[in-house]
Amino acid sequence: MKRIRIEGGHPLTGTIRISGAKNSAVALVPASLLSDEVVKIDNIPNISDIDALNEILTYLGAKVSREGTLMTIDSSNVVSKEIPEEISKKLRASYYVMSALLGKYKHVEMYFPGGCSIGARPIDQTLKGYRALGAVVKEEGNKYTIDAEELIGAEVYLDMPSVGATVNTILVAVKAKGETVIENAAKEPEIVNVATFLNNMGAKITGAGTSTIHITGVSHLGKCYTEVIPDRIETGTYMIAGALVGENLRIENVILEHVDSLINKLKEMGISIKEEEDAVIISRGENLKKVNVKTLGYPGFPTDLQQPLTTLLTQCEGESVLEETLYENRFKNVPYLNEMGANIEIDGKKIHVKGPTLLQGAEVEATDLRAGACLVLAGLKAEGETIVNNVEHVLRGYENIIEKLTTVGAKIELEEI
Ligand code: EPU
Repeated sequence: MKRIRIEGGHPLTGTIRISGAKNSAVALVPASLLSDEVVKIDNIPNISDIDALNEILTYLGAKVSREGTLMTIDSSNVVSKEIPEEISKKLRASYYVMSALLGKYKHVEMYFPGGCSIGARPIDQTLKGYRALGAVVKEEGNKYTIDAEELIGAEVYLDMPSVGATVNTILVAVKAKGETVIENAAKEPEIVNVATFLNNMGAKITGAGTSTIHITGVSHLGKCYTEVIPDRIETGTYMIAGALVGENLRIENVILEHVDSLINKLKEMGISIKEEEDAVIISRGENLKKVNVKTLGYPGFPTDLQQPLTTLLTQCEGESVLEETLYENRFKNVPYLNEMGANIEIDGKKIHVKGPTLLQGAEVEATDLRAGACLVLAGLKAEGETIVNNVEHVLRGYENIIEKLTTVGAKIELEEI
């Protein structure tokens, strides 16, 4: 097990550079399987979710090489063979491999994907997309065997704007015959990144970033180069760190528009933020005002930032109310924050955070990726020493978190026990 030890209370000053977005990269890498030629993806973050995908692609016969942040993938010799359960469940994004293989080879055998345990996370909308395009899905326990004689473009209405189902339907439709229209599509920037990548290969996708996406199938996808967009959740996490303990903490390589909902919440609390073209500078705020937050799909407030934000809500005066609308089990961080001195009550889909409260160091558990980030932030603010156990979850999604925080003045160490 890996754990993080933090001596709290040290101000953060200097510059943190944001890495490529996890949730884009984990879709771009599987999407490369659709190409008949070599593709290059730059700004790939060095996180364990990418290592897991690398393992799946290599297992399938792809040649993958990495040089710094550049990943080169040659999938011309890939065969669509059964992907064992141990590999399928390593990460949520393994179902992007399922869709890319189905889109290209019209046959795939795989198991239910993994990912953080934050709620049920069904894949019914993805399967609905497959079926609409003519695939036959056989489910045996956790195993899916999916075949299509032919994939034919269709209209797919998603019951909710799911990021995964939107990307999966795009991946299956790019080489299908005719036109596919996805209605009620998710609008997250990561989807635009994936569509741009596929268009660079020769796909015909329009409307990504809006709720209606049109895809006209093509028979060949070729070589291309693309870059992963900066990670808006990593950006937001370090912005919250700046609001907690920053002294002119500069966060660079940021697309400001992607973190607009957070910038506005921080301003509502009374935190001043200096915005530059691709950076923000942020300092600890005093007498912070309470705010209410509701998670929503993009451009609403992201569910992935609600747990990190909860740490900051403990420092606001009065009662802040945070409502989680996407996942039913994304408050596992709350009991640990309370152990550290917070005053938070869980009330169904909402939490009531009364502040300000002094946070004290404690030994706590990272139950999932963003819960872990929330507790690392609490440790940076708390008096004394905090130990966050099970930080493998955190390392799945935050590149070089120890180095990045150390450079700006945190006293933080990674330990293997
Ligand atoms: N949903 C269904 N059926 C489906 C798909 C989704 O009911 O077929 C429901 C889910 O249960 C959830 C909601 O729709 O309540 C949204 O789920 P979505 O499909 O959008 O989430 P996802 O694609 O599984 C991605 C990110 C998550 C992030 C969400 C929401 C990746 C690999 N994961 O998940 O990231 O929380 O979108 O923005 O892109 C994280 O990074 O910590 C993380 C969990």
